Amino acid sequence: MVRVKVPATTANFGSGFDCLGAALGLYNYIEMDFAKTDEIEVMGEGEKTVEKNKTNLVYKAASRVFDEVGISKPIKISLENNIPIARGLGSSAACIAGGLVAANQILGEPLPFSRIVELATQMEGHPDNVVPALFGGFTISMVYEGKVIYKRFSIPNWLRFVVGIPQFSIRTIDARRVIPEKIDFSDAIFNLSRCAMLVASFAKNELSNLDVFCQDKLHQPYRNKLVPGMEKIIKTSKQQGAMACFLSGAGPSVLTITSEENAKKLGIQMVDIFKKEGIKAQYKILSPCDSGVEYIQKSF
Ligand code: HSE
Repeated sequence: MVRVKVPATTANFGSGFDCLGAALGLYNYIEMDFAKTDEIEVMGEGEKTVEKNKTNLVYKAASRVFDEVGISKPIKISLENNIPIARGLGSSAACIAGGLVAANQILGEPLPFSRIVELATQMEGHPDNVVPALFGGFTISMVYEGKVIYKRFSIPNWLRFVVGIPQFSIRTIDARRVIPEKIDFSDAIFNLSRCAMLVASFAKNELSNLDVFCQDKLHQPYRNKLVPGMEKIIKTSKQQGAMACFLSGAGPSVLTITSEENAKKLGIQMVDIFKKEGIKAQYKILSPCDSGVEYIQKSF
């Protein structure tokens, strides 16, 4: 039997559409074992709504590994979900990354980790959530000739990610439909310059102007209509001491970067702005997570 712990993630990180991401200190736990028949149980987030059949995402990820290795055996999967589903916090990436890693582990690790990364990216469609889910930290990732290339590094653990999580969900597929097929050259330059500065800032641990470097013209302006309150949160967060603020992944969660002392105030403000838009929301204060999927001993 194997148990893995897999972190939530934020993708895009402002200016890094489809290429930047970071792991957050909020975790799903996956327990997997061989069984007489397939069985799936879900506790926590989505315990009533998540599929408990062959369409379950963790099951599908495990099946990819079993198929690739040419083994067919029933499995029991127990999920303890803490990552809110379809809120822009990488819940599907956590299922995919965790399912692949757990299945590979119970089979005695027949697949190299590089193949796990490729399979995860294929299943998710883009690498910016699955790579930080697998490796932790702050990540830059891309696909080149079918191979995933990534860099990761740690970011200061005193940073706090305050996520304002509205009660409604957005499917990534729907959030991608609102993005235009073509963009202005000037918008490309806008993001390119900021994305490069953002990566350099974290690489050199020089964190001034993060709010500027997290600005975006590739997806947020188009997704704004899907997340009422987002623009206002981004605008007002700096006045309250935020270092940066952006839509987390495809949304609808909005993420603010700050220090511990300002975190609660910013979380309350986010919830308040959503409330004024008629949207119920909660906030969570999360730390950076420096490790990706981990095997754990502790039973849950
Ligand atoms: N980069 C992706 C997007 C992340 O914004 O569509 C969503 O999972």
